[in-house]
Parts: sequence; structure tokens; C-alpha cells
Amino acid sequence: MNIDEELIKKNLRGIILAGGKGTRLEPLTRIMNKHLVRVGNYPMIEYPLQTLIKMGIKDILVISGVHHIGQIMDYLGSGKQHGAEFTYRVQDEAGGIAQALALAEDWAQEKKVAVILGDNIFLQDFKEDALRFVKGNDGTMLFLKEVMHPQRFGVATVQGNKITEIIEKPTEPKTNLAVTGLYLYDAAVFNRIKPLKPSLRGELEITDVNMSYVKEGKTTYKIINQWIDAGTFPSLEEAERQVREYNK
Ligand code: DAU
Repeated sequence: MNIDEELIKKNLRGIILAGGKGTRLEPLTRIMNKHLVRVGNYPMIEYPLQTLIKMGIKDILVISGVHHIGQIMDYLGSGKQHGAEFTYRVQDEAGGIAQALALAEDWAQEKKVAVILGDNIFLQDFKEDALRFVKGNDGTMLFLKEVMHPQRFGVATVQGNKITEIIEKPTEPKTNLAVTGLYLYDAAVFNRIKPLKPSLRGELEITDVNMSYVKEGKTTYKIINQWIDAGTFPSLEEAERQVREYNK
């Protein structure tokens, strides 16, 4: 293992958020966890897992709802196969992405974390970005992607190398830059979740966490050219297409 790999292994922990209700993929999700729905030749969760593994992360926490975590454990196992260690935690109710993330506080042991949403498929390698983040002093690094219909996502406004605003699912987006579901955070992220109040949809929003960094000018970003949130039927089909294209 070289010095950079050691740095990531020691200083960056990975978290996959695979809870939620999965209502947008009903009726498939009546009997199985959304993150086990097939994309290409794998269950969806394999892709975010690989994104973390390719970064060189060895400690990974998987969070899911009480009804489905068993299926996820059956599939992922201990991590031995990947030379990694997987830990599991239950989110009792789908109270939002930030609520799920808060469950990782003790486990994270004051290290920086790479958080990824279980329905987000990235096919590129983020090792260099992870390394830059681990070595640097940014509070958070976010990954933005230009999209056709930003209304479905958190939408960012940028100036120079900083994000100046993020609005969750705006009806009239100011830009077409969606905030994707891969977030690199410093260890202070857990304290930033504590004062949050549920949004109108009754969830602790990851956008509110991100905005707390934005307000202090502590957010950097990178614009990427491939990403898909596979949480709806049309986007699941598009994910399937991208994965096949990538594997050609
Ligand atoms: O995909 C990127 C988007 O994800 C961002 O642009 C938005 O800012 C962010 O709020 C989020 O929006 P969604 O409405 O698409 O999130 P969704 O409720 O579909 O949840 C995404 C993943 O997060 C899901 O695969 C499982 C996990 N999750 C979600 C909730 C609500 C949990 O683990 N626990 C939860 O309580």
C-alpha cells in the first residue's frame, strides 16, 4: 500500500445510505429494498459500494430500514471479499438523509466521511478527489452535474470555486447544476445535523447540512459529467443504459 492509499484508509470512512421508503419504485419495493433492484448485472447498491471501494475506503457503514437491512446484509456480507469491513445500522423510520447520517456519529470516530446515497450510480473514479479532500481543509466537497430537469434535486449556484447557494427541489431552479448524492464531509458534519428541524416533507434534509457549510464558505465542488439517481422507473432505465454502455 502506498502513502496515499494509507492516508485514505486511515482518515476517510465510507457511509452508504440505503433506507427510505422507495415509493417511487412501487410495486417493486413492496417486497424488496429499492437498493437491491437490478441495474445491469448487479443489485443497485453494488454501484455506490464500488464507488467507495475504488476510492480506497476500507471501513464502510451501511444504513437501512428495519424491514430490509437483512436482505442487504445477505447480499453484502462482512466486506472480507473486498478487503474491507462492513458495519450495519438500522434507521427506524425514514426521517431523511441527514437523520440517517446522524446514526453514524459514534462509528465515524471523528474521521472525515464519504457519504453516498444507495440509489446513486457513479461510474467514474473519485480517488484523486478523496485524496485532495483528506489532505485539505475544506468542510465539504460536493459533486455537481448539469441535468435537464433540476427540479427533482438539490440545485446549486456557484461563484468561482465556491458554492453560494443550494435549494432543495426548487420549482424555478436558478441553474441546472444538480447536487449529486456523493458528499465528502469533515468530522464536524454530525454537529451540523443536531440543530436541524424537519422540512415541509417531514425530513431532516441533507441540503440544510450542506447549506450550513455554504454559509461559512466551506464548500468546494467539482462538476462531473456522468451520474444517475436510479430512484424512479425512467431513471432506472437510464441507469441500465449507462451501465451497459460503460461495460461495452
Ligand atoms: O440523488 C440526489 C438527490 O438526493 C439530491 O439532489 C437531493 O438534494 C437529496 O435530497 C436527495 O433527494 P431525493 O428526494 O432523491 O432523496 P430520496 O428520498 O430518494 O433518498 C435518496 C437515498 O437516501 C435513498 O436511496 C435512501 C437514502 N435515504 C433516504 C431517506 C429519506 C435514507 O437512507 N434514509 C431516509 O430517511
